[in-house]
Amino acid sequence: MLNRVKIAPSILSADFSILGKEIKKIDASGCDYIHIDVMDGHFVPNLTIGPDVIKSIRGYTKKTFDVHLMIDPVKKFLKDYVDAGSDIITIHHEISDNVFECIDYIKKNGKKVGISIKPKTSPDILKKYINKIDLILIMTVEPGFGGQKFMVDQIEKIKSVKNIIGDKNIEIEVDGGINLNNVNDVKKAGANVLVSGSTIFKNSDYKTIIEKLRST
Ligand code: DX5
Ligand code: ZN
Repeated sequence: MLNRVKIAPSILSADFSILGKEIKKIDASGCDYIHIDVMDGHFVPNLTIGPDVIKSIRGYTKKTFDVHLMIDPVKKFLKDYVDAGSDIITIHHEISDNVFECIDYIKKNGKKVGISIKPKTSPDILKKYINKIDLILIMTVEPGFGGQKFMVDQIEKIKSVKNIIGDKNIEIEVDGGINLNNVNDVKKAGANVLVSGSTIFKNSDYKTIIEKLRST
């Protein structure tokens, strides 16, 4: 029996015209985290939301805000994401800023810190961060857009990350293309937090699809 996984709906696939309502509905659906994808049109070829939007939805839920920063530079913006009400701040290994300085800033401000790697990045680079982080976010699509196809070859990477972590208390979050057909493989490989955007939000009944993702 696999451990209970956490479900982190990505609001990238929510209806932005009624975002407050969407947050309330997803809050009531039994999810664990709320995954917020921040993109800058530079680190990734898409532009989404920033700290003011995060601040504006903070009052709609007490759930953990799991903020995935796909931006570069990062460091000069971290204060804004701390102040906006993030709980976990995940930055990418592939940025041009000094990653360790960013990690220290996030920790110093009482937030959990995650490191994300893109599909082409080797999991071995995570070893140098391992004593400083709370979460590893493995991308199973090229970051930038919701609704892409899951990259099956990343399953081995999830297993490698699990080995690298050993018995350390670090969450393994997987992000991109998760659906009912591949969710079990993702869990078996060692993930304990599953991000899901389009699979959840294309259904009108968020609670049922979240339960299915958890139990499949
Ligand atoms: C992609 C984002 C993901 C994405 C997930 O860059 O980080 O969080 O929105 O959406 P789906 O589940 O539709 O792939
Ligand atoms: Zn994400």
